[in-house]
Amino acid sequence: MAASQAHLNAYSWHLPVAIEFGLGSAFEALSSLRGRRAVVLSFQGADRLEYPARLMRSMGDALVDWVEIPDGLSTLDLGRQVAAQVWPALASPYQTVLIGLGGGSVMDVAKWIRHRPACGSVDRMGQLLGCSAPPPGWTPHELWLMPTTAGTGSEVTPWSTLWDTDTHPAAKRSFDQPWAYADRAVVDPLLSLTCPQAVVRHSALDALGHGLEVLWNRHRNPMSVVLGLDAVRTVIRALPDALRSPEDPAPRRALAQAALQAGVAFSQTRTALAHALSYPLTLEQGVDHGAAVAVWLPLTWGLAAGHHPEVDHALSQVWDGQVLQGAQRLQDWFLEVGFELSLDSLGIHDVQERVHAALAHERGRNFEGRGKDERI
Ligand SMILES: [Fe+2]
Repeated sequence: MAASQAHLNAYSWHLPVAIEFGLGSAFEALSSLRGRRAVVLSFQGADRLEYPARLMRSMGDALVDWVEIPDGLSTLDLGRQVAAQVWPALASPYQTVLIGLGGGSVMDVAKWIRHRPACGSVDRMGQLLGCSAPPPGWTPHELWLMPTTAGTGSEVTPWSTLWDTDTHPAAKRSFDQPWAYADRAVVDPLLSLTCPQAVVRHSALDALGHGLEVLWNRHRNPMSVVLGLDAVRTVIRALPDALRSPEDPAPRRALAQAALQAGVAFSQTRTALAHALSYPLTLEQGVDHGAAVAVWLPLTWGLAAGHHPEVDHALSQVWDGQVLQGAQRLQDWFLEVGFELSLDSLGIHDVQERVHAALAHERGRNFEGRGKDERI
């Protein structure tokens, strides 16, 4: 059976993460600590932002340690440094919970370091990357993920993107295991209210990318398409409002909901061509992940449109029935939300070569659209 027809038949859905969503849900979640302690892993300056700082105060004596990691890529090296700092605090005798409070990098690192070996040696962390089950003798700490941006969906996926910067050029590595899911995803849109506009924009574009990559994904199924499509439409509607009215929680709530829905959907399908194309931009030119994905979305839309009736049917529900014109509609919408990055402005002129290389990438092979034998 061709992969592109797989969605017509049986499918499975496995997502062992308890999800709580709503304004104030992060504060309510703390009540379930019930005498246990927690270590919070967060991002630089989180303790000075209104809602993360309030969360910190609410924890009182339950807070064993609050560790902030620098902005930037989640790297293997960073994970080892953070583990060396966090593991001694996790080892306290209170069934300590690890809370990852932040964007994609924080959650990616938290997922990797929540297992702790008895010897406490960070040199053994590489072992986790290739294990099909948690290695014997490692303690899995309960992990709660609380996103402060509305975009990555990392709170509901079983993988972490970790960059190996010891190699030249640096390489994308993954901690990607069926046992890597968090125990709990607490999505509180209040936590995203203090996000700078650029972060709101790029995070939403990442969520948009996840939703679209579900629609043109060979592993799509009826549930993922519904969730992905709704996420796409919500981002398109809510991002302009969120940028216009940064204090208004309503569009932030909508974006958080869309990012979660897209995350739940692509936790099953994974991403596709636009993500495969984005990685070199992030690695070689330092382009933020959401922007690096978004800049490829119009081209990827063009390669998906007109190829498979079911994909076209889903895409037709994004822009009032328009499928072939959808790429241009996306470009116009980018201007409306102040996203002006383009392949030209990034100096990218070898589009065809990049697309061909990306189609052979693990994620590119998920793409339901024009293939590498067809002219781009
Ligand atoms: Fe992404």
